[in-house]
Amino acid sequence: MAKKRTLLEIKHLYKIFGPEPEAALERVRAEGLGKSELMEQTNHVLALNDINTEVREGEITVMMGLSGSGKSTLIRHLNRLIEPTAGEILLDGEDVLALSQEQLRRMRRERMSMVFQNFALLPHRTVLDNAGMAAATRGDKRADYEKDARKWLDRVGLGGNADQYPHELSGGMQQRVGLARALASNSPIMLMDEAFSALDPLIRTDMQDLLLELQSELQKTVVFISHDLDEALKLADHLVILKDGFVVQQGEPQHILLEPEDDYIVDFVSDINRARVLRVRSVMNESGDPVAEGAVEVDHDDTLESVLSKSDGAMEARFVVTRDGVRVGTLDMAEVLKALVPAAASESGMRTQAT
Ligand SMILES: Nc1ncnc2c1ncn2[C@@H]1O[C@H](COP(=O)(O)OP(=O)(O)OP(=O)(O)O)[C@@H](O)[C@H]1O
Ligand SMILES: [Mg+2]
Repeated sequence: MAKKRTLLEIKHLYKIFGPEPEAALERVRAEGLGKSELMEQTNHVLALNDINTEVREGEITVMMGLSGSGKSTLIRHLNRLIEPTAGEILLDGEDVLALSQEQLRRMRRERMSMVFQNFALLPHRTVLDNAGMAAATRGDKRADYEKDARKWLDRVGLGGNADQYPHELSGGMQQRVGLARALASNSPIMLMDEAFSALDPLIRTDMQDLLLELQSELQKTVVFISHDLDEALKLADHLVILKDGFVVQQGEPQHILLEPEDDYIVDFVSDINRARVLRVRSVMNESGDPVAEGAVEVDHDDTLESVLSKSDGAMEARFVVTRDGVRVGTLDMAEVLKALVPAAASESGMRTQAT
């Protein structure tokens, strides 16, 4: 697959909270202090510690980590709601930190929209007016944006609710308005900070599905923050895992599952349903023999879960892998099963034997 274009670039980004961030940064750089050491020794918070990452156009990049790991601080740097202590942020090659106030306002209005955890709807405006808020703020007349706002409300399943007020809607419906508002703003980049975290599990799953469905149509560039690994794995094209303000590992979710670089990641991913996340393309055998008769055809993008269901439990099942109708590899059950055993399990098995 062709690699997509980088739209946002974050280079050597640091954010330190406290009265003398510059001095604290010197010590972080010179002595390599971590978050807890900096706190102990200087009473400053090392919220972001040398972050380097990219957001590619048309992809969903998920920033994930436990509470306090720096997710919100990081996403707020992208539209400069927070100024960094050091580092660079480039949008389409342009230095975001060099923008004037006017340019910054325009960037926030035209290029980025935000969807918040607490929905952040205006209580005294109708659902329709909330959806059309970006255009209204731009100074457009209601008559001009109404059609578009209605279109997006329809698209998120709220066609019949346009004249209601936010408090008349359930949480899930309110967040649909939040989504419609972001879509109606027409900005190519959507920043979503824990956008689904306040919702009940079933509603949350619906919203994730809706986002993926919209994404396959619209190919927005989405930066999505989550502390939930299942959500992150479901949504992410690119996954960035943060801990204590630094990036522990980043990459395609499947790659992180198959090649965790750190014990923290191994522990982190040990409980997830690997069959649902891993796809044929990352475990197939590209130089496999031409497959014998009776092989079952699977797509390179199918999950191992769907392969298992196609195998009907037969251990001798063989698969031929296709991409856009062309044969690109093979897969057998041994390869599938091997991928389903997490590194932690095989290692702890070894440890038990050794002791
Ligand atoms: N304005 C601030 N002043 C001082 N410290 C702050 C400030 N904002 C954030 N922090 C600290 O920076 C670190 C990162 O916070 P941040 O809010 O980015 O975490 P998060 O990953 O979004 O957490 P959560 O999942 O709880 O939202 C935390 O240690 C937090 O206490
Ligand atoms: Mg947060």
